[in-house]
Amino acid sequence: MSNAAAVPTASPFLASCRGETPVHTPVWFMRQAGRSLPEYKQVREGTTMLEACSTPELVAEITMQPVRRYGVDAAIFFSDIVVPLAAIGVDVKIVPGVGPVVAEPFRTEDDVKRLRNLDPCDVPYITEAIGLLVKELGDTPLIGFAGAPFTLASYLIEGGPSRDHAKTKALMKSRPEIWHGIASRLAAICGEFLRVQVEAGAQAVQLFDSWAGALSEADYRRFALPHSTAALMGVAQSVPRIHFGVGTGHLLEAMTETGAEVSGVDFRIPLDQAAKRLPDKILQGNLDPAVVLADDDALIAETDAVLEAAKGAKGHIFNLGHGVLPETDPAKLKLVVDHVHEATAR
Ligand code: CP3
Repeated sequence: MSNAAAVPTASPFLASCRGETPVHTPVWFMRQAGRSLPEYKQVREGTTMLEACSTPELVAEITMQPVRRYGVDAAIFFSDIVVPLAAIGVDVKIVPGVGPVVAEPFRTEDDVKRLRNLDPCDVPYITEAIGLLVKELGDTPLIGFAGAPFTLASYLIEGGPSRDHAKTKALMKSRPEIWHGIASRLAAICGEFLRVQVEAGAQAVQLFDSWAGALSEADYRRFALPHSTAALMGVAQSVPRIHFGVGTGHLLEAMTETGAEVSGVDFRIPLDQAAKRLPDKILQGNLDPAVVLADDDALIAETDAVLEAAKGAKGHIFNLGHGVLPETDPAKLKLVVDHVHEATAR
C-alpha cells in the first residue's frame, strides 16, 4: 500500500502571482459573486448587504456560487470594503443601487478620533466564514480584500458615493493634518482587516483603490500612496498582493510603489502598454465588463485580444477591467473562463 499523499495540484492563480508558469492562464472576475447570479438573488432575499456579510454560512455560500458555476481559478471573499468600518461602529449602510452611505460624515479633527483600530474580535464572522470556505474550496485559493484608505476616506468624507470627490480633495488641501489623520487610521484598519483574512486562510489579497484615478499623480503620491503602502505592509511576505484602481492609467507606475506584486489594470489601458511600463509586474485584467454583454463572437475576439496583449507581460491573471455588471448573463462568463483555459493550456 502506498502511503504517498496525493500531491495537491499547483494553483494556476498562485503560480501566476509568484511569477511561475501556470498550466493555463488563471481567470477570476471582480464581483464574480453578486447580482448577476440568480442563485445569489435567491439567497440574499430579505437580508441587507451588511447582515449578509456578517453571516458566515451565507458568506461561504455566496463566495462558492461563482466557483461552482464558472470553474474560476480563485474565489474572492464575499464582503464589502465598508465592513471593517461598520465593525468599529461607524454608522454606514449599503443602499441598494447607490452604495455605501455614511450617516455622519468625517470632516473635523474630532472625527479622526471616531476611527479606532480594528480588533480581530470585532469581526469574528470573517474568521468563521473563511474557516468554512477553506474547507470547501479545496485547491482553489481564496482572495481576501480591503478598500484602500483613499477610496474608503472618500465615502467617509463625502458621506456617500461621489463623482468628483470634491469635499475629499478640498480637505486634503486645506487641512492636510486631518486628511492624514483619517487616512493613516484607515490604513491601520485596512491592514488589520487584511491580516485577519490571511490568518484565517486567505491565500492572496487585493487592495481596491477604486477611485484613486480621480487624483493627479502628484496628489496620489502625497495623499494616498503612503497610506496604501502602510495598509499592504501588514501582509507583505505572507501572501501575494494585488492592487487595483479604475481610470488609473496615469498612476500605473506610482501604484506599484506600494509594493504589491500584481498590478490590476482597468480596461482603458491596453495590457501591452501596461507591460512595457511595468516590466517587473504580474498584470491582472482587463476585459471591458460591457463587452461581456456583446454577442459570443465579439466576446471571444475581445478575450483573445486581451490574451494577445498580455503576452509581453511577466505574468498574466485574466480578469475584467472592473466588476461584473449586474445585467451580465452568467453563461457568457462561463464561455470566457472555458475559452481562456483552452486557448492558454500548456
Ligand atoms: O468581487 C466580489 O465578488 C466580492 C465582493 C465585493 C463586494 N464589494 C460585494 C458587494 C467586493 C470585492 C466589493 C468591493 C467594493 N465595494 C468596492 C471596490 C470594488 C469596485 O467595484 O470598485 C467598492 C467601491 C464598494 C462599495 C460598494 N458596495 C458599492 C459601490 C456597491 C454597489 C451598490 C449598488 O447597489 O449598486 C456596494 C454594494 C455591494 N458590494 C454589492 C455587492 C455584491 C451589491 C449589493 C447587493 O447585492 O445587494
